[in-house]
Amino acid sequence: MQKCLLLGNGGREAVLAEYISKGYELYTVCPYENPSIIECVKNSNGKYIVDDPFNKEVVRNFIKENEIDTCVISSDNLLQDGLIDIAKEMGLKTFGPTSKGAKIEWSKTYALDIVEKLAPEMIIKNYNITDVEELKKVIDTYEDDSFVVKPEGLTGGKGVKVGGIHFKGKEEGFEYAKSCLEASGNVIVQDKVEGREFTVMALTDGENIVVTPITFDYPYRFDEDKGPGTGGMGCLSFENGLLPFLEQSDVDECANLIKETLKYVNKDSLEFNGVIYGGFFKTKNGIKFIEFNARFGDPEALNVLNSLETPFTEVMQNIFNKTLNKDNCKFKKTYTFTVYVVTKEYAVENRKEPLVFTMNKEKINEQGVKVYFANTKNIEGKTYSSVSNSRLFGLTASAETLEKAKEKVYNSMKGNLDENLDYRTDIGNIYEH
Ligand code: GLY
Repeated sequence: MQKCLLLGNGGREAVLAEYISKGYELYTVCPYENPSIIECVKNSNGKYIVDDPFNKEVVRNFIKENEIDTCVISSDNLLQDGLIDIAKEMGLKTFGPTSKGAKIEWSKTYALDIVEKLAPEMIIKNYNITDVEELKKVIDTYEDDSFVVKPEGLTGGKGVKVGGIHFKGKEEGFEYAKSCLEASGNVIVQDKVEGREFTVMALTDGENIVVTPITFDYPYRFDEDKGPGTGGMGCLSFENGLLPFLEQSDVDECANLIKETLKYVNKDSLEFNGVIYGGFFKTKNGIKFIEFNARFGDPEALNVLNSLETPFTEVMQNIFNKTLNKDNCKFKKTYTFTVYVVTKEYAVENRKEPLVFTMNKEKINEQGVKVYFANTKNIEGKTYSSVSNSRLFGLTASAETLEKAKEKVYNSMKGNLDENLDYRTDIGNIYEH
């Protein structure tokens, strides 16, 4: 059996672990024992060590000692740091871009430059600012706070701030932009546009793409899209692969940009395969580009992998062989629904002590709902502990209607979750902004 190294320890990797371990022995180097990933490693007769996955020497030795043949990475920081590059150098088959390929995510200006060349009509007016005087001048051109501030570099979904939502008034926007400028040497200020946000994710072998069902993410911390932006509090997808406000032609337009972007990034060598994710706005003036990610979204991966009909390991093979197409990468006609469970403090204040909580995974599973652990470790039985201030675990269900999938997830929580835990109660409502 093939041996696959998976790096990364979130809910996204928990679902990847489930689907990889159905066909491969699973291996990982992990900073803590994520219960979902460890269970998959054990069930597949693989192996793990608790160590730093960013330590290239450790990863190299682990690959060598265990004679691992394939590697999957879908975490922004690990990709930026070049862990795929290491696996490639050692001759493994890889799923995920090199650090150079992942630049479309870790450099917002690089991504904007590409889209400016390939689809200028999709660009929202923006300024790449490198000094504070210029920043002042640009912000003065706005009448009010109708602009968006985007820091350069990876921010885990938490860096982009929108005027009127995340900051109020020009002055607050200026102060935030100034802090981004000081931190990295540049900052992007962009017009705020009215529209519906959506993402188009595609699996790719570097040349061919297969668009996954379109997912709708809930990035805001509290009900009714209130509060700060987070990594995502929930996610859903529809059985027709679209969203109520999207036409197939909208998706085709985005898919075209994605294909052209891959051609551009891979023009000299194969830097990019795995998953490319585009964030877009549907506005009255057409589709506008927001950003690229070089990986599966989280929670989006929980929905998408649960709607895949073709075994994921077959999709991996098609990616390695560069033979990916719609017939060998099929999706089920189903609704998927995910809610992330977090601490009450998540994204609003720093929690110093780990949260110890109880959760009855077996009872939740009995109701047809899957549990994907993220920043959580098991203490004993039904008692768990948070390992950081991030999301704790995701609950995912599929069904023949959205209402049923939603009911399954929310009903499974009743009596099975500690009252110290928190989650959004309105995933499934689609708000207009
Ligand atoms: N859910 C958004 C992201 O993964 O970046």
